[in-house]
Formats: sequence, C-alpha cells, structure tokens
Amino acid sequence: MSFFNYAVSKTIMHVPSPVVHHFAKDYVAGNDLDDAVRVCRELSAKGIESTLDILGEYITKKEQALPFKQDCIDILETIHRDKLDANLSVKPSQMGLLMDYDFAFNNLRDIVARAAELNGFVRIDMEDIECNEDTIKIYRILREEFPDHVGTALQSYMRNAMDHLELLGDGPINLRLVKGIFIVTRQQAWRDPELITRNYIQLLERMFELGAYVGIATHDERLYYEAQKLIKKFGLKREQYEFQMLLGVDPELRDLIVSEGHRLRVYIPYGKQWLGYSRRRLLENPNIARAALGQMLRG
Ligand code: FDA
Repeated sequence: MSFFNYAVSKTIMHVPSPVVHHFAKDYVAGNDLDDAVRVCRELSAKGIESTLDILGEYITKKEQALPFKQDCIDILETIHRDKLDANLSVKPSQMGLLMDYDFAFNNLRDIVARAAELNGFVRIDMEDIECNEDTIKIYRILREEFPDHVGTALQSYMRNAMDHLELLGDGPINLRLVKGIFIVTRQQAWRDPELITRNYIQLLERMFELGAYVGIATHDERLYYEAQKLIKKFGLKREQYEFQMLLGVDPELRDLIVSEGHRLRVYIPYGKQWLGYSRRRLLENPNIARAALGQMLRG
C-alpha cells in the first residue's frame, strides 16, 4: 500500500456517514429483506447465485444478537419459501462471539439447524483476529452435526491460514477463500499484496488437494486466471467449486466469469447498519475513497 493509500485508509474512518452513503450505496441492496430479494432475483435472471447478509457487527449487548438471529432465520425461510438461488452469510460477532463464546455458539447452531431443516446453507464470515480461532472451532463442531449445511472462510493475508486449513483436513471442508479485509498487525498477517496473492494461490491448491468445496471470492483478475488453471489441473466439474464477488464490484469481470461457464455467487448485504461495511468497501477502492475524502474536505 502506498503512503497515500495508507493515509486515505486512516482518514476514511472519519468521513461523515452521509458522504460514505453516497459513495457506497452500490455495495448495499437497501434497508430491508425485500430489497435484498429484489437484487437476488435480478442476479438470478442472469444465472448468478447470491448469499444474503444482514448488516450489523460487533454487538455490545447480548439482547442485540437476538433480533439479528431472527433476521437470519427469516432470510433462510424466505430463501426456502421463494425458492431463491441463495444462501445466508452470518458474522459471528453479530451473534455475540466477542462477549460470550457459548452464547454465540448456540445462536449459530440454531441458525445452522434451521438451515438444515430447510435444506439451506450458512456461511460463517471470517472477521478480525479476535474471532479467528473461535470461528474455526465453531465451524469444526457444526460441520460434524450438519456437514452439508455450513461453511466458513479463510483469509490469505493470515500467516496461520495454512495451519488452519490443515487442521480442517480431518473432515469435509467447505470454505470461502478471501484475501482478508480487517486491520491486523504485522505479526498476524502479511502486508505485501504480492505475498497475500501467492498465499491465496497456495491455499486454493491445497484446498483442492484436500477435496474442499471452495468459494473462490475475489475480484482480482490474476486470481481468476490462476484459479482457472487449478480448476483444470484438478479436473473439477462446475458443481465442485464456485466464484464469489461482492455486490457493486466489477460487474464486467462478474459477467465474464459467468460467460465462461463457472458458477458465481454475489454477496448481497442489506440493512440499516451499513456504515462499517461501507467504510471497508471504500478502503478497498482508493479511487472512490479519495473522491469521498475530497467531497468531505469540500464540505
Ligand atoms: P484486490 O483487493 O486486489 O482487488 C482486485 C480488484 O478489484 C482491484 O482492481 C480493486 O480495486 C477492485 N476492488 C476490490 N474491492 C473493490 C471495491 N470495494 N470497489 C471497487 N473495486 C474494488 N474478507 C474477510 O476478511 N472476511 C470475509 O468473510 C470476507 N467475505 C467476502 C465475501 C466475498 C464474496 C468477497 C468477494 C470478499 C469477501 N471479503 C471478506 C473481502 C476480501 O477479504 C477482500 O478484502 C476483497 O475481496 C478484495 O480483495 P480482492 O481479492 O478482490 O483483491
């Protein structure tokens, strides 16, 4: 990251929410589940699947988790009832992981159990370092009980990502592979983008060797190219992996991936708590972040 981009990333946290909203609205479907369903149907008409996410994270009181849990169950029931090409993504911190492991585990278990009853699927997002080990632990326990209905994510910027993957090698593996977006220290995560990309490719290869189902989540054209090579090398069929992208990011690449015959799933966040998510999206796009800062400085 250049010094300028580093400075942008530090400053973006102070951009007022109306400015963030203006620049980030393409990344969020809207305030309500109906908005997410509408976007999901639009994508479905183009042969694209979805994963729905109710925005909200890092709750500070246990009572805050319960409405989010109900939202997650509503999403699963809506997907089932309306026969949507979609699954659910959920954040462990939204279920209280940073306050009480058992409480969060039970919430996540209830959600995955409901998904299993409805033949649905839940992807547990990977958040920052505080959640990392516990998220892997929860996934390992839940996949024993619901092997076809739960997955999690690994981040290639984490220096211990390969160790976590090997740990998961003792059972069925369903992982989303990402570079990683949270603020982490040098001891925890690689900072060099080239190294993060190389680690991504090595992790993907090892995942395929272990027979994992992988959601290859990236907008990086080079990784798309490398993933295609690995898919060929392992002779994988279309049903044995998928690509994943975020709503609002590079629709041109998205359409290309679909036109080349791969499955593609778009992450659709919705809800009123869009600020944290939107700031992270701006951080990933220095051009838009610069424009947002410029607007803030101009008032
Ligand atoms: P990279 O950042 O190199 O971007 C590649 C290209 O895409 C660049 O040209 C870049 O400018 C463009 N681009 C990327 N983001 C953009 C944006 N917001 N707006 C416009 N252009 C953009 N992380 C995490 O830690 N835990 C998780 O659970 C998840 N979950 C997740 C799900 C899905 C479906 C995706 C696609 C991503 C995540 N992430 C995540 C985020 C992930 O860690 C990573 O930060 C982003 O995907 C960006 O990395 P890329 O691989 O796209 O490469």
